[in-house]
Amino acid sequence: MVNPIRSGNMRKPNEIMRILVTTFVGGVFGFFLGVSFPTLSLSQLNFPSSLIPSIDLTYIEDKYSGLSTEAFLNAWSSLKGNRGSSLQFSLNETKIWVPTNPRGAERLPPGIVESESDFNLRRLWGMPSEDLAIKPKYLVTFTVGIDQKKNIDAAVKKFSENFTILLFHYDGRASEWEDLEWSKRAIHVSVYKQTKWWYAKRFLHPDIVASYDYIFVWDEDLGVEHFNAEEYIKLVRKHGLEISQPGLEPNQGLTWQMTKRRGNSEVHKETEEKPGWCTDPHLPPCAAFVEIMATVFSRDAWRCVWHLIQNDLVHGWGLDFALRKCVHPAHEKIGVVDAQWIVHQSVPSLGNQGKAENGRAPWEGVRERCRKEWEIFRSRLADAEKAYYKGVGIDPPNSTEV
Ligand SMILES: *[C@@H]1O[C@H](CO)[C@@H](O)[C@H](O)[C@H]1NC(C)=O
Ligand SMILES: *[C@@H]1O[C@H](CO)[C@@H](O)[C@H](O)[C@H]1NC(C)=O
Ligand SMILES: *[C@@H]1O[C@H](CO)[C@@H](O)[C@H](O)[C@H]1NC(C)=O
Repeated sequence: MVNPIRSGNMRKPNEIMRILVTTFVGGVFGFFLGVSFPTLSLSQLNFPSSLIPSIDLTYIEDKYSGLSTEAFLNAWSSLKGNRGSSLQFSLNETKIWVPTNPRGAERLPPGIVESESDFNLRRLWGMPSEDLAIKPKYLVTFTVGIDQKKNIDAAVKKFSENFTILLFHYDGRASEWEDLEWSKRAIHVSVYKQTKWWYAKRFLHPDIVASYDYIFVWDEDLGVEHFNAEEYIKLVRKHGLEISQPGLEPNQGLTWQMTKRRGNSEVHKETEEKPGWCTDPHLPPCAAFVEIMATVFSRDAWRCVWHLIQNDLVHGWGLDFALRKCVHPAHEKIGVVDAQWIVHQSVPSLGNQGKAENGRAPWEGVRERCRKEWEIFRSRLADAEKAYYKGVGIDPPNSTEV
């Protein structure tokens, strides 16, 4: 046995060496154990204590270094007494457990935990630290079919090298984009007939997109002739918009006043609607509101919105009214950028790719599902809020209704 008592905290170099060596030997020993007894746990095996590396004791010593020798010995023997064999004891006590690590990674030393990622492309050779000439600060995603190739090509060209481009292909024809000059630096995800929010829920986890200041989650039918992405970001930063969209060219018979472009301002955050549409001037659709066709999220807002997206509600109807739950105060942090504006072309895309059933056109079934999802989303959110307020024992404020 190694004598567990040492006088001070100072270790001589040869002692450190010994610890390193015993740790290494212990590691190798453990590896072979694992190989030869894959189904047995260590604590089930009864080894002579001389096989246990002295690292355990070193650890104990550190832990109790502030105590007197006597107190240390008492603590040591009581621990030994409580836990049975010293093997079991040492195994338990040397396990890493860091509650502040991300869930599931508590056993890792925090210094190695890499909880976030990005879409940066890397080389297969050279030094990892030298892989990236530019580290893009923004992410733009389009959900696309091949029919909109020209349109998307034009749109992507509006985004500088500061943007990572991510395409979600819903028609399985990703290879037909390869001839485009930017295609090789874009990320292509191809899954047949899924919606923008389906992809977003699966491929844009907040930890995966954590390195981007802003995330554009865009449809494919947007005309970007009057749009400059870098200028847009500048305005969004200047006006503190956490959730935003470019103004929409008003010639197109728009549903909402809020998202109409205004000719005389940089951004706007509120509007007037038809009489009776807004119960509160700070609530949708008069404020705290953008649509979901060309939304831009800050990193922090996305960290919340990703959780608001329901796994099974793929069309995202109703999300626009609920986005405000993610930023506070919503009527100041949600807005429309007038000075960088787009045209919503409303071309038929996924909406047309339903199933012809019972004599109905494919789009009818899709539209019906959209409406149903909206209802489901609304009641889920309302129920969740009710349950919360009930749980904490207070009356819900009036303005939480969706
Ligand atoms: C030590 O580990 C064993 C086996 O995993 C377990 O049964 C025991 O409860 C642990 N003891 C403590 C104090 O954690
Ligand atoms: C990219 O970002 C850098 C740093 O913010 C900026 O200096 C540069 O002008 C940007 N590129 C373009 C094309 O705007
Ligand atoms: C909430 O709404 C009810 C009825 O609509 C009204 O009587 C009450 O004053 C409202 N409360 C607040 C805090 O606005």
